[in-house]
Amino acid sequence: MTKDFASAADRAAFIAGLPKAELHLHIEGSLEPDLMFALAQRNGVAIPFASAEEVRAAYAFSNLQDFLDIYYQGMGVLQTERDFHDLTAAYLARARADGVRHVEIFFDPQGHTARGIAFETVVTGITRALDAARTEHGLTSKLILCFLRHLSEAEAEATLDEALPFLDRIDGVGLDSSEVGHPPSKFERVFARARNLGLKLVAHAGEEGPPAYVREALDLLHVDRIDHGNRSLEDDALVARLAGEGMTLTVCPLSNLKLCVVDDLAAHPLKTMLDAGLAATVNSDDPSYFGGYVNANYQAVADALDLSKADLVALARNSFTGSFLSDADKAMHLAAIDAYA
Ligand code: ADE
Ligand code: ZN
Repeated sequence: MTKDFASAADRAAFIAGLPKAELHLHIEGSLEPDLMFALAQRNGVAIPFASAEEVRAAYAFSNLQDFLDIYYQGMGVLQTERDFHDLTAAYLARARADGVRHVEIFFDPQGHTARGIAFETVVTGITRALDAARTEHGLTSKLILCFLRHLSEAEAEATLDEALPFLDRIDGVGLDSSEVGHPPSKFERVFARARNLGLKLVAHAGEEGPPAYVREALDLLHVDRIDHGNRSLEDDALVARLAGEGMTLTVCPLSNLKLCVVDDLAAHPLKTMLDAGLAATVNSDDPSYFGGYVNANYQAVADALDLSKADLVALARNSFTGSFLSDADKAMHLAAIDAYA
Protein backbone atom coordinates (compact mmCIF):
# COMPACT_ATOMS: atom_id res chain seq x y z
CA MET A 1 0.00 0.00 0.00
CA THR A 2 1.31 3.43 -0.95
CA LYS A 3 2.37 5.46 2.08
CA ASP A 4 -0.05 8.22 0.99
CA PHE A 5 -3.08 6.46 2.43
CA ALA A 6 -3.64 4.56 5.65
CA SER A 7 -5.91 2.01 3.95
CA ALA A 8 -7.84 1.24 0.79
CA ALA A 9 -10.88 2.84 2.47
CA ASP A 10 -8.85 6.01 3.06
CA ARG A 11 -7.88 6.10 -0.64
CA ALA A 12 -11.51 5.45 -1.64
CA ALA A 13 -12.60 8.43 0.47
CA PHE A 14 -9.98 10.60 -1.23
CA ILE A 15 -11.22 9.50 -4.65
CA ALA A 16 -14.85 10.12 -3.71
CA GLY A 17 -14.19 13.75 -2.84
CA LEU A 18 -11.82 14.50 -5.70
CA PRO A 19 -13.32 16.96 -8.21
CA LYS A 20 -13.30 15.23 -11.59
CA ALA A 21 -14.59 15.34 -15.16
CA GLU A 22 -15.86 12.35 -17.10
CA LEU A 23 -14.84 12.44 -20.78
CA HIS A 24 -15.81 8.98 -22.06
CA LEU A 25 -19.38 7.99 -21.33
CA HIS A 26 -21.86 6.54 -23.81
CA ILE A 27 -25.24 7.66 -22.53
CA GLU A 28 -26.89 4.52 -23.92
CA GLY A 29 -24.35 2.50 -21.92
CA SER A 30 -25.68 3.97 -18.69
CA LEU A 31 -29.06 2.26 -19.15
CA GLU A 32 -29.46 0.31 -15.91
CA PRO A 33 -31.46 -2.95 -16.05
CA ASP A 34 -34.18 -1.51 -13.79
CA LEU A 35 -34.72 1.46 -16.12
CA MET A 36 -34.59 -0.89 -19.13
CA PHE A 37 -37.48 -2.83 -17.59
CA ALA A 38 -39.43 0.29 -16.70
CA LEU A 39 -39.07 1.71 -20.22
CA ALA A 40 -39.93 -1.63 -21.84
CA GLN A 41 -43.15 -1.62 -19.84
CA ARG A 42 -43.90 2.08 -20.43
CA ASN A 43 -43.41 1.68 -24.19
CA GLY A 44 -44.81 -1.83 -24.64
CA VAL A 45 -41.47 -3.08 -26.00
CA ALA A 46 -40.65 -6.78 -25.59
CA ILE A 47 -37.23 -7.61 -24.15
CA PRO A 48 -35.78 -11.12 -24.01
CA PHE A 49 -35.25 -11.06 -20.23
CA ALA A 50 -37.58 -11.95 -17.37
CA SER A 51 -35.91 -9.84 -14.67
CA ALA A 52 -33.20 -7.27 -14.00
CA GLU A 53 -31.12 -10.11 -12.53
CA GLU A 54 -31.40 -12.00 -15.80
CA VAL A 55 -30.23 -8.91 -17.66
CA ARG A 56 -27.19 -8.60 -15.40
CA ALA A 57 -26.40 -12.28 -15.85
CA ALA A 58 -26.31 -11.73 -19.63
CA TYR A 59 -23.55 -9.14 -19.21
CA ALA A 60 -20.64 -11.55 -19.63
CA PHE A 61 -18.56 -10.55 -22.63
CA SER A 62 -15.47 -12.00 -24.22
CA ASN A 63 -14.76 -9.07 -26.54
CA LEU A 64 -16.10 -5.72 -27.80
CA GLN A 65 -18.49 -7.24 -30.37
CA ASP A 66 -20.10 -9.48 -27.74
CA PHE A 67 -20.92 -6.38 -25.74
CA LEU A 68 -22.04 -4.30 -28.71
CA ASP A 69 -24.62 -6.92 -29.72
CA ILE A 70 -26.30 -6.64 -26.30
CA TYR A 71 -25.81 -2.85 -26.13
CA TYR A 72 -27.64 -2.21 -29.43
CA GLN A 73 -30.41 -4.57 -28.34
CA GLY A 74 -30.73 -2.82 -24.97
CA MET A 75 -31.20 0.63 -26.48
CA GLY A 76 -34.36 -0.60 -28.24
CA VAL A 77 -36.42 0.37 -25.18
CA LEU A 78 -35.54 4.05 -25.74
CA GLN A 79 -38.42 5.50 -27.75
CA THR A 80 -39.55 8.93 -26.60
CA GLU A 81 -38.02 12.27 -25.70
CA ARG A 82 -38.90 11.51 -22.08
CA ASP A 83 -36.99 8.21 -22.24
CA PHE A 84 -33.82 9.97 -23.40
CA HIS A 85 -34.33 12.59 -20.72
CA ASP A 86 -34.83 10.01 -17.97
CA LEU A 87 -31.79 8.01 -19.10
CA THR A 88 -29.60 11.12 -19.07
CA ALA A 89 -30.98 12.44 -15.79
CA ALA A 90 -30.27 9.09 -14.10
CA TYR A 91 -26.66 9.14 -15.31
CA LEU A 92 -26.15 12.76 -14.23
CA ALA A 93 -27.41 11.97 -10.72
CA ARG A 94 -24.89 9.13 -10.45
CA ALA A 95 -22.08 11.29 -11.80
CA ARG A 96 -22.86 14.10 -9.37
CA ALA A 97 -22.78 11.64 -6.48
CA ASP A 98 -19.27 10.66 -7.65
CA GLY A 99 -17.92 14.21 -7.46
CA VAL A 100 -18.11 14.75 -11.21
CA ARG A 101 -18.21 18.48 -12.01
CA HIS A 102 -18.20 18.26 -15.81
CA VAL A 103 -19.22 15.53 -18.29
CA GLU A 104 -18.67 15.06 -22.01
CA ILE A 105 -21.33 12.62 -23.13
CA PHE A 106 -21.37 10.46 -26.25
CA PHE A 107 -24.56 9.46 -27.98
CA ASP A 108 -25.12 7.07 -30.89
CA PRO A 109 -27.91 8.61 -33.02
CA GLN A 110 -27.64 5.91 -35.69
CA GLY A 111 -28.62 3.34 -33.06
CA HIS A 112 -31.93 5.19 -32.80
CA THR A 113 -32.66 6.65 -36.23
CA ALA A 114 -32.23 3.15 -37.70
CA ARG A 115 -35.20 2.14 -35.49
CA GLY A 116 -37.34 5.03 -36.68
CA ILE A 117 -36.67 7.36 -33.74
CA ALA A 118 -36.21 10.96 -34.90
CA PHE A 119 -32.81 12.57 -34.37
CA GLU A 120 -34.61 15.49 -32.76
CA THR A 121 -36.26 13.22 -30.16
CA VAL A 122 -32.87 11.93 -29.06
CA VAL A 123 -31.11 15.31 -28.88
CA THR A 124 -34.00 17.10 -27.23
CA GLY A 125 -34.38 14.49 -24.48
CA ILE A 126 -30.66 14.35 -23.70
CA THR A 127 -30.17 18.11 -23.71
CA ARG A 128 -33.21 18.79 -21.52
CA ALA A 129 -31.54 16.72 -18.78
CA LEU A 130 -28.13 18.33 -19.41
CA ASP A 131 -29.66 21.81 -19.13
CA ALA A 132 -31.40 20.94 -15.85
CA ALA A 133 -28.18 19.57 -14.33
CA ARG A 134 -26.38 22.76 -15.30
CA THR A 135 -28.96 25.15 -13.87
CA GLU A 136 -29.93 23.12 -10.79
CA HIS A 137 -26.55 21.70 -9.79
CA GLY A 138 -23.83 23.52 -11.74
CA LEU A 139 -22.87 20.26 -13.42
CA THR A 140 -21.63 21.34 -16.86
CA SER A 141 -21.55 19.23 -20.01
CA LYS A 142 -20.61 18.85 -23.65
CA LEU A 143 -22.40 16.57 -26.09
CA ILE A 144 -20.54 14.46 -28.65
CA LEU A 145 -22.27 12.72 -31.56
CA CYS A 146 -20.59 9.39 -32.37
CA PHE A 147 -20.63 7.81 -35.81
CA LEU A 148 -20.99 4.03 -35.82
CA ARG A 149 -17.86 2.83 -37.59
CA HIS A 150 -19.35 -0.52 -38.69
CA LEU A 151 -21.67 1.53 -40.94
CA SER A 152 -20.53 3.38 -44.07
CA GLU A 153 -19.05 6.85 -44.31
CA ALA A 154 -22.07 7.83 -46.45
CA GLU A 155 -24.31 6.93 -43.49
CA ALA A 156 -22.10 9.02 -41.20
CA GLU A 157 -22.42 11.93 -43.66
CA ALA A 158 -26.22 11.57 -43.62
CA THR A 159 -26.14 11.61 -39.81
CA LEU A 160 -24.05 14.78 -39.82
CA ASP A 161 -26.64 16.29 -42.19
CA GLU A 162 -29.36 15.44 -39.68
CA ALA A 163 -27.34 17.09 -36.92
CA LEU A 164 -26.98 20.42 -38.75
CA PRO A 165 -30.13 22.02 -37.24
CA PHE A 166 -28.88 21.06 -33.74
CA LEU A 167 -25.27 22.21 -33.91
CA ASP A 168 -25.90 24.75 -31.16
CA ARG A 169 -26.39 21.70 -28.88
CA ILE A 170 -23.61 19.47 -30.21
CA ASP A 171 -19.97 20.16 -29.38
CA GLY A 172 -18.13 17.43 -31.19
CA VAL A 173 -18.16 14.19 -33.12
CA GLY A 174 -16.64 10.83 -32.24
CA LEU A 175 -16.20 7.37 -33.70
CA ASP A 176 -17.28 4.20 -31.91
CA SER A 177 -18.60 0.62 -32.36
CA SER A 178 -16.68 -2.32 -33.89
CA GLU A 179 -13.09 -1.14 -34.27
CA VAL A 180 -11.11 -3.86 -36.05
CA GLY A 181 -11.70 -3.72 -39.81
CA HIS A 182 -13.10 -0.17 -39.60
CA PRO A 183 -10.04 2.09 -39.41
CA PRO A 184 -10.25 5.85 -38.91
CA SER A 185 -9.26 6.35 -42.58
CA LYS A 186 -12.76 5.18 -43.54
CA PHE A 187 -14.15 8.41 -42.03
CA GLU A 188 -11.55 10.95 -43.16
CA ARG A 189 -13.97 13.05 -45.25
CA VAL A 190 -16.81 13.25 -42.74
CA PHE A 191 -14.38 14.22 -39.98
CA ALA A 192 -12.94 16.95 -42.24
CA ARG A 193 -16.45 18.29 -42.73
CA ALA A 194 -17.13 18.19 -38.98
CA ARG A 195 -13.86 20.05 -38.38
CA ASN A 196 -14.89 22.73 -40.88
CA LEU A 197 -18.17 23.10 -38.98
CA GLY A 198 -16.14 23.97 -35.88
CA LEU A 199 -16.84 20.72 -34.05
CA LYS A 200 -14.36 19.06 -31.69
CA LEU A 201 -13.13 15.64 -32.80
CA VAL A 202 -12.51 12.41 -30.89
CA ALA A 203 -12.25 8.76 -31.92
CA HIS A 204 -12.06 5.38 -30.23
CA ALA A 205 -8.69 3.98 -31.26
CA GLY A 206 -6.39 1.31 -29.89
CA GLU A 207 -9.08 -0.36 -27.78
CA GLU A 208 -8.93 -3.57 -29.83
CA GLY A 209 -7.38 -2.05 -32.95
CA PRO A 210 -3.63 -1.69 -33.58
CA PRO A 211 -1.40 1.34 -32.92
CA ALA A 212 -1.72 2.19 -36.64
CA TYR A 213 -5.37 3.11 -35.98
CA VAL A 214 -4.25 5.60 -33.31
CA ARG A 215 -1.83 7.12 -35.83
CA GLU A 216 -4.64 7.36 -38.40
CA ALA A 217 -6.90 9.08 -35.87
CA LEU A 218 -4.15 11.67 -35.30
CA ASP A 219 -2.92 12.11 -38.89
CA LEU A 220 -6.10 11.64 -40.94
CA LEU A 221 -8.93 12.63 -38.59
CA HIS A 222 -6.94 15.28 -36.63
CA VAL A 223 -8.63 14.31 -33.38
CA ASP A 224 -8.46 16.39 -30.22
CA ARG A 225 -8.52 13.28 -27.99
CA ILE A 226 -8.06 9.53 -28.30
CA ASP A 227 -10.69 7.33 -26.65
CA HIS A 228 -8.99 4.32 -24.97
CA GLY A 229 -5.63 4.30 -26.79
CA ASN A 230 -4.38 1.28 -24.81
CA ARG A 231 -2.59 -0.36 -27.70
CA SER A 232 -0.52 2.79 -28.31
CA LEU A 233 1.85 1.30 -25.73
CA GLU A 234 2.95 -1.29 -28.30
CA ASP A 235 4.63 1.50 -30.30
CA ASP A 236 7.36 3.47 -28.47
CA ALA A 237 7.53 6.22 -31.09
CA LEU A 238 3.76 6.68 -30.87
CA VAL A 239 3.94 6.91 -27.07
CA ALA A 240 6.63 9.60 -27.37
CA ARG A 241 4.49 11.48 -29.85
CA LEU A 242 1.31 11.29 -27.74
CA ALA A 243 3.24 12.45 -24.67
CA GLY A 244 4.95 15.26 -26.60
CA GLU A 245 1.64 16.51 -27.98
CA GLY A 246 -0.06 16.25 -24.58
CA MET A 247 -2.78 14.15 -26.24
CA THR A 248 -5.47 13.12 -23.77
CA LEU A 249 -6.38 9.43 -23.60
CA THR A 250 -9.80 8.60 -22.16
CA VAL A 251 -9.04 5.29 -20.49
CA CYS A 252 -11.79 3.00 -19.14
CA PRO A 253 -10.43 0.41 -16.68
CA LEU A 254 -13.57 -1.62 -15.87
CA SER A 255 -14.55 -1.62 -19.55
CA ASN A 256 -11.12 -2.97 -20.44
CA LEU A 257 -11.55 -5.72 -17.85
CA LYS A 258 -15.10 -6.69 -18.92
CA LEU A 259 -14.23 -6.67 -22.64
CA CYS A 260 -11.06 -8.69 -22.04
CA VAL A 261 -8.76 -5.91 -23.29
CA VAL A 262 -6.85 -6.80 -20.10
CA ASP A 263 -7.03 -10.16 -18.27
CA ASP A 264 -6.65 -8.62 -14.86
CA LEU A 265 -6.73 -5.03 -13.56
CA ALA A 266 -3.29 -5.65 -12.03
CA ALA A 267 -2.08 -5.81 -15.65
CA HIS A 268 -3.88 -2.61 -16.64
CA PRO A 269 -1.61 -0.11 -18.46
CA LEU A 270 -2.87 3.03 -16.68
CA LYS A 271 0.14 3.43 -14.39
CA THR A 272 2.52 2.74 -17.29
CA MET A 273 0.73 5.46 -19.26
CA LEU A 274 1.13 8.00 -16.46
CA ASP A 275 4.77 7.07 -15.95
CA ALA A 276 5.37 7.51 -19.70
CA GLY A 277 4.03 11.06 -19.47
CA LEU A 278 0.74 10.32 -21.23
CA ALA A 279 -2.28 12.48 -20.34
CA ALA A 280 -4.45 9.55 -19.25
CA THR A 281 -7.88 9.98 -17.65
CA VAL A 282 -10.26 7.52 -15.95
CA ASN A 283 -13.79 7.04 -17.28
CA SER A 284 -16.66 4.58 -17.09
CA ASP A 285 -17.49 4.04 -20.82
CA ASP A 286 -20.73 2.04 -20.39
CA PRO A 287 -21.17 1.87 -16.61
CA SER A 288 -24.37 -0.16 -16.53
CA TYR A 289 -22.76 -2.90 -18.61
CA PHE A 290 -19.28 -2.85 -17.04
CA GLY A 291 -20.15 -2.72 -13.36
CA GLY A 292 -19.29 0.75 -12.17
CA TYR A 293 -19.47 4.51 -12.54
CA VAL A 294 -16.43 6.76 -12.52
CA ASN A 295 -15.47 6.41 -8.85
CA ALA A 296 -15.71 2.63 -9.05
CA ASN A 297 -13.29 2.82 -11.98
CA TYR A 298 -10.85 5.02 -10.06
CA GLN A 299 -11.09 2.78 -7.00
CA ALA A 300 -10.70 -0.53 -8.78
CA VAL A 301 -7.68 0.57 -10.78
CA ALA A 302 -6.14 2.43 -7.81
CA ASP A 303 -6.35 -0.72 -5.69
CA ALA A 304 -5.04 -2.98 -8.45
CA LEU A 305 -2.10 -0.70 -9.32
CA ASP A 306 -1.60 0.86 -5.86
CA LEU A 307 -1.94 4.36 -7.25
CA SER A 308 -0.51 7.19 -5.17
CA LYS A 309 -2.17 10.47 -4.27
CA ALA A 310 -0.04 12.16 -6.96
CA ASP A 311 -1.29 9.63 -9.55
CA LEU A 312 -4.93 10.26 -8.60
CA VAL A 313 -4.48 14.02 -8.66
CA ALA A 314 -2.79 13.77 -12.08
CA LEU A 315 -5.72 11.73 -13.42
CA ALA A 316 -8.26 14.26 -12.13
CA ARG A 317 -6.22 17.20 -13.46
CA ASN A 318 -5.93 15.48 -16.86
CA SER A 319 -9.72 15.09 -16.96
CA PHE A 320 -10.14 18.87 -16.93
CA THR A 321 -7.14 19.83 -19.06
CA GLY A 322 -8.32 17.31 -21.67
CA SER A 323 -11.90 18.57 -21.61
CA PHE A 324 -13.48 20.97 -24.08
CA LEU A 325 -14.08 23.58 -21.37
CA SER A 326 -12.72 27.13 -21.75
CA ASP A 327 -9.28 27.89 -20.31
CA ALA A 328 -10.93 29.93 -17.53
CA ASP A 329 -13.20 27.03 -16.54
CA LYS A 330 -10.29 24.58 -16.65
CA ALA A 331 -8.29 26.87 -14.36
CA MET A 332 -11.20 27.08 -11.91
CA HIS A 333 -11.50 23.28 -11.71
CA LEU A 334 -7.74 22.77 -11.44
CA ALA A 335 -7.66 25.22 -8.54
CA ALA A 336 -10.44 23.23 -6.84
CA ILE A 337 -8.39 20.04 -7.21
CA ASP A 338 -5.30 21.75 -5.77
CA ALA A 339 -7.33 23.08 -2.86
CA TYR A 340 -8.74 19.60 -2.18
CA ALA A 341 -5.42 17.78 -2.47
N1 ADE B 1 -19.89 1.84 -27.98
C1 ADE B 1 -20.19 1.89 -26.68
N2 ADE B 1 -19.12 1.56 -25.94
C2 ADE B 1 -18.10 1.31 -26.81
C3 ADE B 1 -16.74 0.95 -26.67
N3 ADE B 1 -16.17 0.74 -25.48
N4 ADE B 1 -16.01 0.77 -27.77
C4 ADE B 1 -16.55 0.97 -28.97
N5 ADE B 1 -17.82 1.31 -29.17
C5 ADE B 1 -18.60 1.50 -28.08
ZN1 ZN C 1 -16.38 3.96 -25.48
